[in-house]
Amino acid sequence: MAEILIEAGRVTIDGRVADLGNRVDADSQEIRVDGKLVPAAPSAVYFLLNKPTGVITTADDPHGRPTVVEMINTDVRIFPVGRLDMTTEGLLLLTNDGRLAHLLTHPSVGIEKEYLVRVEGDPSPASIRRLREGIQLEDGLTAPAQVSRVSDGVLRIVIHEGKNRQVRRMCEAIGHDVIRLVRTRIGPIQDAKLTPGGSRSLSVGEVRKLMDAVGFAGQPETTITS
Ligand code: URA
Repeated sequence: MAEILIEAGRVTIDGRVADLGNRVDADSQEIRVDGKLVPAAPSAVYFLLNKPTGVITTADDPHGRPTVVEMINTDVRIFPVGRLDMTTEGLLLLTNDGRLAHLLTHPSVGIEKEYLVRVEGDPSPASIRRLREGIQLEDGLTAPAQVSRVSDGVLRIVIHEGKNRQVRRMCEAIGHDVIRLVRTRIGPIQDAKLTPGGSRSLSVGEVRKLMDAVGFAGQPETTITS
């Protein structure tokens, strides 16, 4: 199958059309078929965790506190993609695919992350508008965000940046401290059925959607004519 695709000129390695004799380092080189990124290696694994509160987003904690990596049942060395604060709950990706992780967290790709946020009080329409338009934080202005009021004191916020504690600081800046923060979507990935502490592998279709999301936003598709 791979040979047929290569002979048809549909495979590129680091942007060059591949020949049958090419040797590929699947861990470091970018392989595309019809312009679409393919997973780093057949051994690449992708997990989705519903992180509960009280667990640290790291592969290894020197203080011995519970980590997100320990919550996944695998022998493969994986790491979290981006981070959620200790008290933040919700969806987190873990993988051994460094290239996808890099693209998913790269500011120029700007993958969307959606949060449900319970705050103190009930933000006014004017405060919600400030969140939408951008908040001046000490490390810069936040980009325009999608913000909607779900119910009394509950907001849905979609951002595509990854500043440290960004949602908490945005809400603090409008005078409404965060009581509970749950990530409900990462780009195309959602799972309302995954219970806190639960995890599962991503399907092949979900991995493809993630690759499309980062490839589409980050790099123009390569057009190959055969
Ligand atoms: N924004 C925050 O403030 N905390 C998180 O964990 C994620 C986004």
